[in-house]
Amino acid sequence: SRMSTNTSVVTEFILVGFSRLADLQGLLFSFFLTVYLLTVAGNLLIVLLVSADAALRTPMYFFLRNLSTLEIGYTSVTVPLLLHHLLTGQRHIPRSGCALQMFFFLLFGATECCLLAAMAYDRYAAICQPLRYPLLLSQRTCLCLAGSAWACGALVGLGHTSFVFSLPFCGPKAIPHFLCEIQAVLQLVCGNTSLNELQIILAAALLILCPFGLILGSYGRILATIFRIPSAAGRLKAFSTCSSHLVVVSLFYGTAIFIYIRPKASYDPTSDPLVSLFYAVVTPILNPIIYSLRNADVKAALKRTIQKIGPAGI
Ligand SMILES: *[C@@H]1O[C@H](CO)[C@@H](O)[C@H](O)[C@H]1NC(C)=O
Repeated sequence: SRMSTNTSVVTEFILVGFSRLADLQGLLFSFFLTVYLLTVAGNLLIVLLVSADAALRTPMYFFLRNLSTLEIGYTSVTVPLLLHHLLTGQRHIPRSGCALQMFFFLLFGATECCLLAAMAYDRYAAICQPLRYPLLLSQRTCLCLAGSAWACGALVGLGHTSFVFSLPFCGPKAIPHFLCEIQAVLQLVCGNTSLNELQIILAAALLILCPFGLILGSYGRILATIFRIPSAAGRLKAFSTCSSHLVVVSLFYGTAIFIYIRPKASYDPTSDPLVSLFYAVVTPILNPIIYSLRNADVKAALKRTIQKIGPAGI
């Protein structure tokens, strides 16, 4: 016999998301489908290009390929489900599905934090320690750095998700978001959760600010080195090798800091999902664009690959 409880246990949630924009469902569906396909295609292109082209066999492109793999996963845990909800109008998600989505979203997000820090270290070593660069970023070190980023992401995902889903859910089922995002799901926990929130905010702050501090430190040293280069052309050349990374870092950390380093009381169900739209949907498509358009090496590799494939295709 089961113990009777006076609180009903929530077994499924409803992702409210864009349901208020009822007239725009078709438009939103086409928009997200297009962005999703372009994101997967763009990142896949980077993965294939880096794997195929010998000139891109450097630590920087090893990390970029890893980042692109990650971005494919990152959008794939959010956008297809959103598309399904927009198409069917059915917005239910079982509790286990919600936990799984939160786990993968945190896994990819936290891994990206760490991977961007590893990429900043790569730029620091290339610009500030050019002679020791091959030593500082040997193949083994690169594998270790990327492996640690993924391990760290998995730990964060597992820790946060199991923590949130061990809290009691007994009341409303409507998540004010289009995905099972941790801050939005926390809104539904019953009882006083201020201590839990504090723990989550501290963990998020630590996770975001540590890699961010490393990135800032790396760029401090990079800029100091670049400013000592006597010629303007030399300065520009050195800076151009890290400008793509700098743009990606600013976009990613800008939104992550805005969303996570704040107390629950300031969660805003109307504007926050829009901001997460930015880092869940928009940043993954920006990486291939930023790295391909701003980067002469990638453009040259693309040209070579097209020429290689061209005659064979005809
Ligand atoms: C990303 O890094 C991990 C850990 O080093 C490695 O196992 C994986 O093969 C890498 N993926 C790509 C696509 O480079």
